[in-house]
Amino acid sequence: MKGLLLAGGHGTRLRPLTWNGNKHMLPIANRPLLYYGLEHLKEAGVRDVAIILGPIKEGIEEQIGDGSRFGVRVHYISQGDPKGLAHAVLCAREFLGEDDFLMYLGDNMLEHGAAPYVQRFAQGDATAVVGAVKVKDPRHYGVVELDGQSRIVSIEEKPALPKSNLALIGVYLFTPAIHPIIESLKPSARGELEITDAIWALHQRTGKVQVIELDGWWKDTGQPNDLLEANERVLASRPPAFFRVEGRIDHGANVSGHVALGPGGEIAAGATVRGPVVLGQNVRIESGAYIGPYTSIGDGSVIRRAEVERSILMENVTVDVPFRIVDSIVGRGTTMTERRHLPKGHSFVLGDASQVVL
Ligand code: TTP
Repeated sequence: MKGLLLAGGHGTRLRPLTWNGNKHMLPIANRPLLYYGLEHLKEAGVRDVAIILGPIKEGIEEQIGDGSRFGVRVHYISQGDPKGLAHAVLCAREFLGEDDFLMYLGDNMLEHGAAPYVQRFAQGDATAVVGAVKVKDPRHYGVVELDGQSRIVSIEEKPALPKSNLALIGVYLFTPAIHPIIESLKPSARGELEITDAIWALHQRTGKVQVIELDGWWKDTGQPNDLLEANERVLASRPPAFFRVEGRIDHGANVSGHVALGPGGEIAAGATVRGPVVLGQNVRIESGAYIGPYTSIGDGSVIRRAEVERSILMENVTVDVPFRIVDSIVGRGTTMTERRHLPKGHSFVLGDASQVVL
């Protein structure tokens, strides 16, 4: 079985974080989102993976390379403009050949990964297996309607009036029977080649598309709050062994709960850190600072003053303000300091589409 890991798209809902970087390289518990997907593919037994790259590919090839670090062989396929999930399959046609394949959306976070779906696919004679989960507002997803025997009645992409609350998550297993269908697919009203249209056609043709409802949590990290929620869930579910202290915790520092501290890092006397928290390499938490639960702080960052809780701070961030920062995502190299001269007031240098909540 081959793997298709999607990392294309524009990531518009995550701007400004995605102006100059790919959303799949944003960190969750200090590790790029895409690493979790690669690991899930490996756990599911996939060894040959093609990563689909879109218009913003910075850093992906450089950091993942040939995949040997992850125990898989990684190939790269350029999709260019995001013309839909089925278009991504079309771009990978040569790589996929006549093998079955697992398509995994790189912005997904799944508690139990993809292995349970692969097992169900291997056990039966389905032409496709798709993962689904009940959501409160299904209008933003592919929505599947099932009858009493779990047979598909309808599948629609982002319907205004959903017929059920069962949304497709980003895990799909296909036999090569999907290819001729995708090759004859027409773009939808929004101009994309929709995978939901292909799945519906495959269901009509073979009657052997199976929908599997998810066990465990799932997060589609499309928007800032989703990243914070994914960060919280990952930190809450990591085993104690994940939280290694390789830096220095000074005598007189107040540390409780699970806290990871990278090499060269320091939690100074008089600082308070309450886990679960991940602090990267060379991170310094200085006296008087407070880091609260569900916070990840990237390499080289310094928290001089401030309380930081349930937030993601990327690399080389400096915070020195007498405030409490909550539910925040802060990009690389950002500095927050206090204005010490007149005129009084808040002063900002913000990129396009930034968000400030004071
Ligand atoms: P989306 O979240 O639907 O799209 P996006 O990532 O461009 O984000 P936004 O809507 O904020 O602009 O994409 C779901 C996943 O599929 C994501 O991992 C990106 C990937 N994708 C591709 O690789 N190619 C595509 O053509 C599309 C539409 C998405």
